[in-house]
Amino acid sequence: MITTDLSLAKSELQRNAIIAIPTETVYGLAGNAFNEVAIAKIFALKQRPLYNPLIVHIKSAGYLDHVAKDIPQIARQLADKFWPGPLTLVLPKQVVIPDIVTAGKDTVAVRVPSHPMTQDLLQQLDFPIAAPSANPFGSISPTTAQHVDSYFAQDLNVILDGGTCQRGIESTIVGFSEGKAIIYRLGSLAIEAIETEVGKVTIRTLDDHAPAAPGMLSKHYAPKTPTVMSVDIPSTLAAYQGKRIGLLVFQSVHEDIPLNHQEVLSPSGDLEEAAQRLYAAMHRLDSLDLEVIVAEQFPEIGIGQTLNDKLRRASSD
Ligand code: TXA
Ligand code: MG
Repeated sequence: MITTDLSLAKSELQRNAIIAIPTETVYGLAGNAFNEVAIAKIFALKQRPLYNPLIVHIKSAGYLDHVAKDIPQIARQLADKFWPGPLTLVLPKQVVIPDIVTAGKDTVAVRVPSHPMTQDLLQQLDFPIAAPSANPFGSISPTTAQHVDSYFAQDLNVILDGGTCQRGIESTIVGFSEGKAIIYRLGSLAIEAIETEVGKVTIRTLDDHAPAAPGMLSKHYAPKTPTVMSVDIPSTLAAYQGKRIGLLVFQSVHEDIPLNHQEVLSPSGDLEEAAQRLYAAMHRLDSLDLEVIVAEQFPEIGIGQTLNDKLRRASSD
């Protein structure tokens, strides 16, 4: 049920049921992070492999030491600067975090979400919330309560409706090695913003067989409709002539394609607006029974890099 009833959400979590929660990035499938039974339900519902760890959502930076230890100074600095917000830190875990949450790793991924409804909920709970994005493994992440409902209506008593996610793309995941920051997953916090704070960072290269973060699996966030990325829309359209084409473009419509088969993400050229709308646009185009979705490459700056990364994963075979 789609609802805004926080006390119902709270009591579901307290009896170790799973609910959907809004965050500023995407919706999450949430359960008590201290309870193995609740966490097992998340993995089962999402059909997520057990080797793929979850993010633990905490109420404030002040709570970090309850779930993580040996926290490097630059991690604290990033937390102070960007929390609440779309930044996830990977840190050595405290024993209270069950192994199933971290897929047996000795590190835990942690963030403080900024969505007011989920902040409110976290403040009322005496445990943190583990939550992956609220989509079946490998499919497009949800940015509205309706998206979650279309995936899991039968399975959830509570889908907390917090409106459209403000950021629309998952959090940026940062780990640490020898006091230096390493980006494990590009997300809605731009690399440049992190580098302004802590200097040059490394981006960990993709490794399909042992991904550092499964957000890095090459095929991810994928529409069911075959998707191709393009730097030159007219020539890609020519290559697919005669097919039913969906078009996902940054700024401007193309005359050759029916308007309702197009999604223009930001007419003014604002990458943050494009990010906010990307997944909803993919969801809609994917529902039209098209033969191919042609997605325009974004400028490789700021979260344009993240958007291109998501498109590459949506389009790879
Ligand atoms: O924005 C977000 O981060 C959303 C909202 C709901 O908070 N959550 C999200 O969760 O995207 P999920 O499960 O879809 O992605 C979590 C990512 C996965 O790629 C996972 O491998 C990585 O975090 N991760 C979790 N724990 C990790 C760890 N200890 N080391 C490295 N990566 C980790
Ligand atoms: Mg996900």
